Amino acid sequence: MILGMFVLGWIAVNYPMSPAKIKLFVWHKSIGITILILVVVRIAWRLTDRTPALPNHMRNWERRLAHASHTLMYLAMVIMPLSGWVINSAANFPLKLYGLIRWPNIAPADKALQTQAELVHVTLFWILAALLVLHIGAALWHHFVQRDEILTRMLPGTTRRLRKQGD
Ligand code: HEM
Ligand code: HEM
Repeated sequence: MILGMFVLGWIAVNYPMSPAKIKLFVWHKSIGITILILVVVRIAWRLTDRTPALPNHMRNWERRLAHASHTLMYLAMVIMPLSGWVINSAANFPLKLYGLIRWPNIAPADKALQTQAELVHVTLFWILAALLVLHIGAALWHHFVQRDEILTRMLPGTTRRLRKQGD
């Protein structure tokens, strides 16, 4: 969803002013708020559930890099949609998710705040994009070079199997 939002956000911003541009933004904002809700649920789940341990062959610096990059991605996954919500509120645009559900504003109408939130939103886009290059590169490196289970264990049902083995 987040990769799709990169494309949708970029197209929406560069689209010529028209009713279609407004529609693209309604989709962008609606999916963005959906992502925010899903990420909050995910973080609550992550904090309360056990996760499979990293493979034994991983060195300390690799473990630290993996944890640090995951934490930074979680942070970006929260601040990215939050800053979008602030842009929309500060610009005083009414927001109706998927054209159906009225969504409240999170901040007062304020042009300076809108500009700052836009800067945060766009900067984070580039930071998250860079982190994802590292992240996806690392996943492929684990799979094709290290030949461990890191990538395949993301498949549904695998975590349960690994946990059973560990218990
Ligand atoms: C994970 C969620 C999100 C991602 C990955 C994302 C990504 C993006 C990207 C890539 C752009 C284009 C930046 C540019 O080229 O200038 C953009 C622009 C924008 N997004 Fe989001 N977005 C997210 C959530 C949201 C939400 C929830 C809202 C509002 C409720 C929102 C409102 C906007 C607005 C108003 C712009 C235009 C900003 C400008 O004119 O500078 N976004 N977003
Ligand atoms: C082609 C795309 C992607 C691939 C192949 C991929 C691969 C993976 C793999 C293999 C893991 C598991 C690491 C482990 O088992 O310990 C993982 C975890 C993770 N991925 Fe991705 N990923 C992709 C896209 C994304 C995107 C777009 C995001 C969000 C911006 C993301 C955020 C995360 C986070 C935060 C974790 C840590 C999960 C946790 O331990 O709670 N990934 N990814």
